[in-house]
Amino acid sequence: MAATAYVNGSYRPLRDASVNIEDRGFQFGDGIYEVLYVHNNRLADAQLHLARLTRSLGEIELNLTLTPAALLVIIREVLRRNRVSTGLVYMQVTRGAARRDHPFPAVPVRPSLVITARTRPAPPRDIAAWTGAAITLPDDRWGRCDIKSTNLLPNVLAKQKAKLAGAYEAILYDEQGYVTEGASSNVWIVDATGTLRTRPLGQDILPGCTRAAVLAQLRDSDFPFAQTQFTLEDLRGAREIFLTGATSFVKPITRLDGISIGNGHPGPAATLLLDRYLRHIGAA
Ligand SMILES: Cc1ncc(COP(=O)(O)O)c(C=O)c1O
Repeated sequence: MAATAYVNGSYRPLRDASVNIEDRGFQFGDGIYEVLYVHNNRLADAQLHLARLTRSLGEIELNLTLTPAALLVIIREVLRRNRVSTGLVYMQVTRGAARRDHPFPAVPVRPSLVITARTRPAPPRDIAAWTGAAITLPDDRWGRCDIKSTNLLPNVLAKQKAKLAGAYEAILYDEQGYVTEGASSNVWIVDATGTLRTRPLGQDILPGCTRAAVLAQLRDSDFPFAQTQFTLEDLRGAREIFLTGATSFVKPITRLDGISIGNGHPGPAATLLLDRYLRHIGAA
């Protein structure tokens, strides 16, 4: 069965699906995207992802007239046509195609909308098989990382460095030496005192939907918890490091820059939170 993409109002075979070469997403990265996980036809945290999409679009003044409810109908149809019941949905919205010029088109053009889906299984039930390594890198992205922009060049370069180092993620730090987030995930630690920490929201990190869902699940756990910044030094000395994201779920990082973290195995916080998150999305 050929994969199908939704492109600007029609469903097309993925191999033929294309956008205009003057699309501002291609020319300038002038667009927003979202990634959602679906498990057994149940979209994980759909309302959070759609609300973040709406917010990101508002922040860049991109007016998509399709409502979140209409988007959900298209997402469901893309999943159906691709026979994806468990996997990932990608959505890109750009400011549309117009003669190349940096400012917004004087006469607004129709935004471009692309939705694709692909099968991807849930993480293994054994968390030990879901661990990864990370490297650390300076965060050289722009000042509005809270907007889920399609401008991902720094993230792409960081991920490539991680891959070359045999690692899953690049954990980024700011000029003061505080950890911001991963190139495609939010970062959490259990610090040397046993407190679970993740950076508070601000313009320097993406407000992760998985982060929000995990925070909600933390409410009825015993873990001492704080949304506070932490340094690279805290990261290196952490008892546990884990990532959250729609594609990472809750993912323990057991090696950082080639050195073991904690006892080198997934810790109790990541184990509990992965289990709770998988239940939350109906995958356990
Ligand atoms: C830079 C960045 N931070 C955090 C996240 C995690 O966000 P979410 O949990 O909504 O997938 C992502 C996900 O793609 C990301 O790209």
